[in-house]
Amino acid sequence: MIYLNYDKSKQYLKNFRDINLDFVYLITKKQMVTYLITGANRGIGLEFCRQLKQRGNHVIAVCREVSQELLELDVSIETGIDLTSDTDIKGLLKKLNGQKIDVLINNAAILERVTLDDLDINSIRQQFEVNAIAPLRLTKTLLRNLTTGSKIILMTSRMGSIEDIAIDRLVRTHKLYFKATGNRQQATEKCPNSLGDCYNTSGGSYGYRMSKVALCMAGKSLSVDLKPKNIAVAILHPGLVKTRMTNFTPNGITPEKSVQGLIARIDQLNLENTGTFWHSNGEILPW
Ligand SMILES: NC(=O)c1ccc[n+]([C@@H]2O[C@H](COP(=O)([O-])OP(=O)(O)OC[C@H]3O[C@@H](n4cnc5c(N)ncnc54)[C@H](OP(=O)(O)O)[C@@H]3O)[C@@H](O)[C@H]2O)c1
Repeated sequence: MIYLNYDKSKQYLKNFRDINLDFVYLITKKQMVTYLITGANRGIGLEFCRQLKQRGNHVIAVCREVSQELLELDVSIETGIDLTSDTDIKGLLKKLNGQKIDVLINNAAILERVTLDDLDINSIRQQFEVNAIAPLRLTKTLLRNLTTGSKIILMTSRMGSIEDIAIDRLVRTHKLYFKATGNRQQATEKCPNSLGDCYNTSGGSYGYRMSKVALCMAGKSLSVDLKPKNIAVAILHPGLVKTRMTNFTPNGITPEKSVQGLIARIDQLNLENTGTFWHSNGEILPW
């Protein structure tokens, strides 16, 4: 199937006076792949919108409050949607008016650091609401807009892996140590890069970690339940990314790089590999 970019086709066809462009628009829009992305006003969600729009896809950006950057992308925007609100989700369903969605990207989330010393139960509950329950509820609600061949994406985190293998961090530390000392053996001893040695050692972050594990489990169940409907599900970790969630950490990769990898994983997703927990760089992560 050929997917046409409306802007490009409009430009190309403008010389043909007897062609009704509204009709062309209806046809091209029908043929375009439609992505719905939550948390679209900033960070990774915004970058998804930018790159998907650029490659000629139809983008529906869902957010609580629209940002100037999102407005400038000229995509369809559904604003005023708090994903924890049943009323807002029903409102979104109504606004979509039966529109077909090819790829649903559940991207929105919150990260609040909760430690054992300061166990803020309300924060843990809220992180479950936003990070685990809201994506499942949205997916269930929009199932009627999905169709055979559609894909569902759950943006989770490596922090939702019980084993939490922080390879990126270890490799980076290894390289720095090696650079500083020139001693590869010592660097390897100090920063072992073998899977057995680097299980979850950082602990903490109770609400975020617990809610993301729950999201991973929801993804696995969805992949089983929706396979007979020919709908594939991916559970994705974007890498450590410079966004507001991470205080734009200098150790992170850019949203551009992360989203390039995430889109590659989404393109790669099919019924054979449904239910996989992937890093944006293609690595398969352990539960
Ligand atoms: N950045 C990283 O290094 C990293 C690492 C691992 C996983 N992730 C995951 O990647 C995804 C995107 O993260 P990010 O770094 O782009 O985060 P971000 O910059 O903090 O953006 C989070 C987005 O979620 C939206 N959101 C939060 N609560 C919401 C609610 N109740 N209803 C509707 N929208 C809500 C925010 O909207 P408002 O602007 O209205 O608050 C914002 O658009 C998340 O699932 C995150 O857990 C990120």
